[in-house]
Amino acid sequence: MTGRAVYPGSFDPITLGHLDVIERAAGVFERVVVGVLVNPRKSPMSDALARAEVIREAVGETLPGVAERVDVVTFDGLTVDLAARSGAGSIVRGLRAVSDFEAEMQMAHTNRKLAPAIDTIFFMTALEHAYLSSSLVKEISGFGGDVSLMVPPAVARRLRGATIAR
Ligand code: PNS
Repeated sequence: MTGRAVYPGSFDPITLGHLDVIERAAGVFERVVVGVLVNPRKSPMSDALARAEVIREAVGETLPGVAERVDVVTFDGLTVDLAARSGAGSIVRGLRAVSDFEAEMQMAHTNRKLAPAIDTIFFMTALEHAYLSSSLVKEISGFGGDVSLMVPPAVARRLRGATIAR
C-alpha cells in the first residue's frame, strides 16, 4: 500500500456502497481522505460538518481495521484542489452501473485536464450495493421505510430519530 487518495462526494447520507468503496480504497492506498462537498447541487439533508461527523462515526464502527488511515474533511471548491492540498495523487470514485459511467467519465477527464498529475481510480461497487443511492435512501426514509440494510448504523440511528421527530 502506498500513496494517498481523495474520495470526494456529497455523502448525503453515506451508504453501505460508499463504505465499501472506502474500505477497498484503504486496501490500495495508505491514506484515504474522504472529502465531503459543502454545497452539493441537490440541497443536502444535513450540513457538511454533520455529514462528515456521521462518516467518521460510521467508519469507526464498521471499518475499525482501517479507520485510523481514513481522514474525513469537508471541502468547498474543486476536488483537484482538495487532492493537491491533501497531498493525494489519486481521486477515488465508485461505479455502480453503466448509468454512472458517462458522468463519471466526464468528471475524470475534466479533472485530468485541470490537474494532469492526479488520476481517477474507479472501484466497481460491490454487487449487493449496486442498486443503492443516497437519494433513494432519503426518499424511502422520508416515507417511513426501513433503510437499515442500506446505510451504516450511524445513519440509520439519525434517520430513525428524524422520522420520530416529524
Ligand atoms: O456524491 P456526488 O454528488 O456524486 O459527488 C460529486 C462530486 C462531489 C465528486 C463532484 O460534484 C465534485 O467533484 N464537486 C467539486 C467541484 C468540482 O471539482 N467540480 C468539477 C468536477 S469535474
